[in-house]
Amino acid sequence: MELLDAIRTRRTTNGYFKPDPVSLKDQHTLIEAAGRAPSHFNSQPWRFLLVDDPAIRARVSEIAGETMTQLIDGGRFFSRYKKYFRFDEKEMDERRDGILIDQLPAPLRPFVKQIFTDTALKVMRSLGVPKLLGSDNSKLVGASPLLLATLLKKDEYIPGELSGFYCVLSLGMAIENVWLTTGELGMGIQFVSTPMEIPEAWQELKTLFKVPDDMELMAVYRLGYLPEKRDRPRIDWTSNQRKRLSQIAFRNTCETPEADDAA
Ligand SMILES: Cc1cc2nc3c(=O)[nH]c(=O)nc-3n(C[C@H](O)[C@H](O)[C@H](O)COP(=O)(O)O)c2cc1C
Repeated sequence: MELLDAIRTRRTTNGYFKPDPVSLKDQHTLIEAAGRAPSHFNSQPWRFLLVDDPAIRARVSEIAGETMTQLIDGGRFFSRYKKYFRFDEKEMDERRDGILIDQLPAPLRPFVKQIFTDTALKVMRSLGVPKLLGSDNSKLVGASPLLLATLLKKDEYIPGELSGFYCVLSLGMAIENVWLTTGELGMGIQFVSTPMEIPEAWQELKTLFKVPDDMELMAVYRLGYLPEKRDRPRIDWTSNQRKRLSQIAFRNTCETPEADDAA
Protein backbone atom coordinates (compact mmCIF):
# COMPACT_ATOMS: atom_id res chain seq x y z
CA MET A 1 0.00 0.00 0.00
CA GLU A 2 1.36 3.43 -0.94
CA LEU A 3 1.94 5.64 2.13
CA LEU A 4 -0.46 8.39 1.03
CA ASP A 5 -3.10 5.74 0.29
CA ALA A 6 -2.57 4.33 3.78
CA ILE A 7 -3.03 7.81 5.27
CA ARG A 8 -6.07 8.62 3.09
CA THR A 9 -7.78 5.27 3.75
CA ARG A 10 -6.97 5.03 7.47
CA ARG A 11 -10.22 4.64 9.44
CA THR A 12 -11.56 3.90 12.87
CA THR A 13 -13.44 0.61 12.90
CA ASN A 14 -16.80 0.97 14.65
CA GLY A 15 -17.98 -2.57 13.87
CA TYR A 16 -17.00 -6.15 14.61
CA PHE A 17 -13.70 -7.80 13.66
CA LYS A 18 -13.27 -11.37 12.50
CA PRO A 19 -12.95 -13.73 15.51
CA ASP A 20 -9.60 -15.00 14.13
CA PRO A 21 -6.68 -14.48 16.54
CA VAL A 22 -4.18 -11.85 15.35
CA SER A 23 -1.00 -13.65 14.29
CA LEU A 24 2.08 -13.17 16.47
CA LYS A 25 3.89 -11.89 13.38
CA ASP A 26 1.27 -9.15 12.82
CA GLN A 27 1.22 -8.26 16.53
CA HIS A 28 5.01 -7.83 16.47
CA THR A 29 4.82 -5.81 13.23
CA LEU A 30 2.39 -3.42 14.96
CA ILE A 31 4.77 -2.96 17.90
CA GLU A 32 7.74 -2.51 15.54
CA ALA A 33 5.78 0.23 13.74
CA ALA A 34 4.91 1.89 17.06
CA GLY A 35 8.55 1.80 18.16
CA ARG A 36 9.68 3.51 14.96
CA ALA A 37 7.89 6.71 15.95
CA PRO A 38 9.96 9.79 16.77
CA SER A 39 10.48 10.76 20.43
CA HIS A 40 12.42 13.53 22.16
CA PHE A 41 16.11 12.54 22.29
CA ASN A 42 14.92 9.11 21.08
CA SER A 43 13.76 8.53 24.66
CA GLN A 44 11.09 6.02 23.51
CA PRO A 45 8.98 6.69 26.65
CA TRP A 46 6.21 4.34 25.53
CA ARG A 47 5.38 0.78 26.49
CA PHE A 48 2.77 -1.48 24.89
CA LEU A 49 0.72 -4.32 26.40
CA LEU A 50 -0.63 -6.97 24.01
CA VAL A 51 -3.72 -8.63 25.51
CA ASP A 52 -5.07 -11.80 23.92
CA ASP A 53 -5.85 -13.68 27.15
CA PRO A 54 -9.60 -14.59 26.99
CA ALA A 55 -10.25 -13.97 30.70
CA ILE A 56 -8.60 -10.53 30.71
CA ARG A 57 -10.38 -9.56 27.46
CA ALA A 58 -13.69 -10.69 28.97
CA ARG A 59 -13.21 -8.50 32.04
CA VAL A 60 -12.20 -5.50 29.88
CA SER A 61 -15.35 -5.99 27.78
CA GLU A 62 -17.51 -6.02 30.93
CA ILE A 63 -15.87 -2.79 32.11
CA ALA A 64 -16.37 -1.25 28.64
CA GLY A 65 -20.07 -2.16 28.85
CA GLU A 66 -20.60 -0.95 32.41
CA THR A 67 -18.86 2.37 31.75
CA MET A 68 -20.81 3.01 28.52
CA THR A 69 -24.07 2.39 30.43
CA GLN A 70 -22.94 4.72 33.25
CA LEU A 71 -21.95 7.50 30.82
CA ILE A 72 -25.15 7.33 28.75
CA ASP A 73 -27.44 6.92 31.79
CA GLY A 74 -25.73 9.81 33.57
CA GLY A 75 -26.17 12.04 30.51
CA ARG A 76 -22.46 12.94 30.83
CA PHE A 77 -21.55 11.43 27.46
CA PHE A 78 -23.98 13.61 25.54
CA SER A 79 -23.42 16.80 27.56
CA ARG A 80 -19.64 16.44 27.22
CA TYR A 81 -19.50 15.50 23.52
CA LYS A 82 -22.69 16.92 21.96
CA LYS A 83 -20.63 19.59 20.14
CA TYR A 84 -19.16 16.84 17.94
CA PHE A 85 -22.45 15.19 16.97
CA ARG A 86 -23.92 15.93 13.53
CA PHE A 87 -27.29 14.64 12.42
CA ASP A 88 -27.59 15.93 8.87
CA GLU A 89 -25.36 15.94 5.83
CA LYS A 90 -25.86 19.68 5.27
CA GLU A 91 -24.43 20.53 8.69
CA MET A 92 -21.60 18.05 8.10
CA ASP A 93 -20.78 19.58 4.68
CA GLU A 94 -20.61 23.02 6.23
CA ARG A 95 -18.57 22.04 9.28
CA ARG A 96 -16.58 19.15 7.74
CA ASP A 97 -15.74 17.93 11.25
CA GLY A 98 -17.35 15.92 14.04
CA ILE A 99 -19.16 12.61 13.62
CA LEU A 100 -22.26 12.19 11.49
CA ILE A 101 -24.74 9.94 13.29
CA ASP A 102 -26.31 8.36 10.22
CA GLN A 103 -27.40 5.09 11.81
CA LEU A 104 -29.95 5.38 14.63
CA PRO A 105 -32.63 2.93 15.84
CA ALA A 106 -36.08 3.97 14.52
CA PRO A 107 -37.57 4.76 17.99
CA LEU A 108 -34.84 7.36 18.55
CA ARG A 109 -35.00 9.10 15.15
CA PRO A 110 -37.98 11.38 16.00
CA PHE A 111 -35.99 12.72 18.98
CA VAL A 112 -32.83 13.56 17.01
CA LYS A 113 -33.17 17.29 17.42
CA GLN A 114 -34.03 16.98 21.13
CA ILE A 115 -31.59 14.13 21.73
CA PHE A 116 -29.51 16.20 24.17
CA THR A 117 -32.46 17.32 26.31
CA ASP A 118 -33.39 15.93 29.71
CA THR A 119 -36.69 14.75 28.22
CA ALA A 120 -34.88 12.68 25.59
CA LEU A 121 -32.59 11.29 28.29
CA LYS A 122 -35.66 10.25 30.31
CA VAL A 123 -37.16 8.63 27.18
CA MET A 124 -33.87 6.87 26.42
CA ARG A 125 -33.74 5.56 30.00
CA SER A 126 -37.34 4.32 29.74
CA LEU A 127 -36.43 2.57 26.48
CA GLY A 128 -33.39 0.99 28.21
CA VAL A 129 -30.99 2.66 25.78
CA PRO A 130 -28.10 3.03 28.30
CA LYS A 131 -28.12 -0.72 29.02
CA LEU A 132 -28.53 -1.52 25.31
CA LEU A 133 -25.53 0.60 24.29
CA GLY A 134 -23.60 -0.80 27.24
CA SER A 135 -24.18 -4.38 26.13
CA ASP A 136 -23.41 -3.43 22.50
CA ASN A 137 -20.11 -1.92 23.60
CA SER A 138 -19.31 -4.93 25.79
CA LYS A 139 -20.02 -7.39 22.96
CA LEU A 140 -17.93 -5.31 20.52
CA VAL A 141 -14.91 -5.25 22.83
CA GLY A 142 -15.44 -8.86 23.96
CA ALA A 143 -15.46 -10.09 20.34
CA SER A 144 -12.18 -8.31 19.54
CA PRO A 145 -9.32 -10.85 19.38
CA LEU A 146 -6.66 -8.39 20.50
CA LEU A 147 -6.47 -5.47 22.92
CA LEU A 148 -3.54 -3.07 22.94
CA ALA A 149 -2.83 -0.94 26.00
CA THR A 150 -0.44 1.97 25.63
CA LEU A 151 1.62 3.24 28.57
CA LEU A 152 4.20 5.92 29.31
CA LYS A 153 7.22 5.68 31.59
CA LYS A 154 6.68 8.06 34.54
CA ASP A 155 10.36 9.06 34.69
CA GLU A 156 9.75 10.66 31.27
CA TYR A 157 6.05 11.45 31.35
CA ILE A 158 5.70 14.31 33.85
CA PRO A 159 2.35 16.06 33.23
CA GLY A 160 2.61 19.84 33.34
CA GLU A 161 6.27 19.73 32.32
CA LEU A 162 7.53 19.97 28.71
CA SER A 163 8.50 16.30 28.88
CA GLY A 164 4.83 15.55 29.59
CA PHE A 165 3.80 17.16 26.32
CA TYR A 166 6.69 15.54 24.43
CA CYS A 167 5.71 12.11 25.71
CA VAL A 168 2.04 12.49 24.76
CA LEU A 169 3.04 13.83 21.34
CA SER A 170 5.40 10.92 20.65
CA LEU A 171 2.88 8.40 21.96
CA GLY A 172 0.32 9.88 19.58
CA MET A 173 2.76 9.39 16.72
CA ALA A 174 3.46 5.81 17.80
CA ILE A 175 -0.28 5.08 17.88
CA GLU A 176 -0.72 6.60 14.43
CA ASN A 177 1.99 4.25 13.12
CA VAL A 178 0.01 1.35 14.58
CA TRP A 179 -3.23 2.71 13.08
CA LEU A 180 -1.67 3.04 9.61
CA THR A 181 -0.08 -0.40 9.86
CA THR A 182 -3.42 -2.04 10.67
CA GLY A 183 -4.54 -0.93 7.18
CA GLU A 184 -1.53 -2.67 5.65
CA LEU A 185 -2.32 -5.87 7.59
CA GLY A 186 -6.04 -5.98 6.71
CA MET A 187 -6.87 -5.10 10.30
CA GLY A 188 -8.93 -2.45 12.05
CA ILE A 189 -8.60 -0.56 15.35
CA GLN A 190 -10.81 1.46 17.71
CA PHE A 191 -10.37 3.24 21.00
CA VAL A 192 -11.85 1.53 24.05
CA SER A 193 -12.36 4.88 25.68
CA THR A 194 -15.38 4.73 27.98
CA PRO A 195 -13.31 3.28 30.89
CA MET A 196 -11.09 6.37 30.62
CA GLU A 197 -14.09 8.50 31.61
CA ILE A 198 -14.74 6.62 34.90
CA PRO A 199 -11.71 6.83 37.28
CA GLU A 200 -12.67 3.67 39.24
CA ALA A 201 -12.93 1.70 35.99
CA TRP A 202 -9.58 3.03 34.78
CA GLN A 203 -8.01 2.05 38.10
CA GLU A 204 -9.48 -1.45 37.70
CA LEU A 205 -7.88 -1.74 34.26
CA LYS A 206 -4.52 -0.76 35.75
CA THR A 207 -4.90 -3.53 38.34
CA LEU A 208 -6.08 -6.04 35.73
CA PHE A 209 -3.08 -5.23 33.49
CA LYS A 210 -0.74 -5.23 36.48
CA VAL A 211 0.56 -1.77 35.50
CA PRO A 212 3.71 -1.10 37.61
CA ASP A 213 4.03 2.14 39.62
CA ASP A 214 6.65 3.56 37.26
CA MET A 215 4.24 3.50 34.30
CA GLU A 216 1.04 5.40 33.42
CA LEU A 217 -1.76 3.66 31.50
CA MET A 218 -2.64 6.09 28.70
CA ALA A 219 -5.13 4.44 26.31
CA VAL A 220 -6.60 1.07 25.32
CA TYR A 221 -7.54 -0.12 21.82
CA ARG A 222 -9.39 -3.10 20.37
CA LEU A 223 -7.98 -4.66 17.18
CA GLY A 224 -8.66 -7.49 14.76
CA TYR A 225 -8.85 -8.50 11.12
CA LEU A 226 -11.57 -6.77 9.09
CA PRO A 227 -14.43 -9.01 7.91
CA GLU A 228 -15.38 -8.91 4.22
CA LYS A 229 -18.96 -7.96 5.05
CA ARG A 230 -19.08 -5.20 7.67
CA ASP A 231 -22.38 -4.96 9.51
CA ARG A 232 -22.89 -1.54 11.07
CA PRO A 233 -23.47 -1.30 14.86
CA ARG A 234 -26.97 -0.32 16.13
CA ILE A 235 -25.86 3.29 16.55
CA ASP A 236 -23.17 4.19 14.07
CA TRP A 237 -21.52 7.21 12.55
CA THR A 238 -19.25 8.28 9.75
CA SER A 239 -16.35 10.60 10.38
CA ASN A 240 -14.44 10.58 7.13
CA GLN A 241 -15.03 14.25 6.43
CA ARG A 242 -12.08 16.57 6.71
CA LYS A 243 -11.75 20.32 6.64
CA ARG A 244 -10.52 22.03 3.49
CA LEU A 245 -6.99 23.33 3.12
CA SER A 246 -8.24 26.91 3.64
CA GLN A 247 -9.93 25.85 6.89
CA ILE A 248 -6.78 24.39 8.49
CA ALA A 249 -3.71 25.98 6.85
CA PHE A 250 -2.25 29.49 6.71
CA ARG A 251 0.51 31.08 4.62
CA ASN A 252 3.37 33.04 6.30
CA THR A 253 1.11 34.51 9.04
CA CYS A 254 -2.13 33.25 10.55
CA GLU A 255 -3.88 36.17 8.91
CA THR A 256 -3.59 34.50 5.48
CA PRO A 257 -5.56 31.26 5.07
CA GLU A 258 -3.98 29.00 2.44
CA ALA A 259 -6.00 28.97 -0.77
CA ASP A 260 -7.77 25.72 -1.61
CA ASP A 261 -6.37 23.81 -4.59
CA ALA A 262 -8.45 24.50 -7.70
CA ALA A 263 -9.38 20.79 -7.85
C1 LIG B 1 -7.76 11.20 21.41
C2 LIG B 1 -8.80 10.42 20.60
C3 LIG B 1 -9.90 9.84 21.23
C4 LIG B 1 -10.81 9.08 20.49
N1 LIG B 1 -11.84 8.46 21.13
C5 LIG B 1 -12.64 7.64 20.41
C6 LIG B 1 -13.68 6.89 21.02
O1 LIG B 1 -13.89 6.99 22.20
N2 LIG B 1 -14.42 6.04 20.27
C7 LIG B 1 -14.23 5.94 18.92
O2 LIG B 1 -14.90 5.17 18.27
N3 LIG B 1 -13.27 6.64 18.30
C8 LIG B 1 -12.49 7.47 19.02
N4 LIG B 1 -11.50 8.14 18.40
C9 LIG B 1 -11.40 8.04 16.94
C10 LIG B 1 -12.07 9.29 16.34
O3 LIG B 1 -13.45 9.27 16.59
C11 LIG B 1 -11.79 9.24 14.83
O4 LIG B 1 -10.40 9.26 14.66
C12 LIG B 1 -12.41 10.44 14.11
O5 LIG B 1 -13.79 10.41 14.25
C13 LIG B 1 -12.03 10.39 12.63
O6 LIG B 1 -12.46 9.17 12.09
P1 LIG B 1 -11.41 8.19 11.41
O7 LIG B 1 -10.44 7.77 12.48
O8 LIG B 1 -12.21 7.05 10.87
O9 LIG B 1 -10.71 8.97 10.30
C14 LIG B 1 -10.62 8.92 19.10
C15 LIG B 1 -9.52 9.52 18.45
C16 LIG B 1 -8.61 10.26 19.20
C17 LIG B 1 -7.39 10.84 18.50
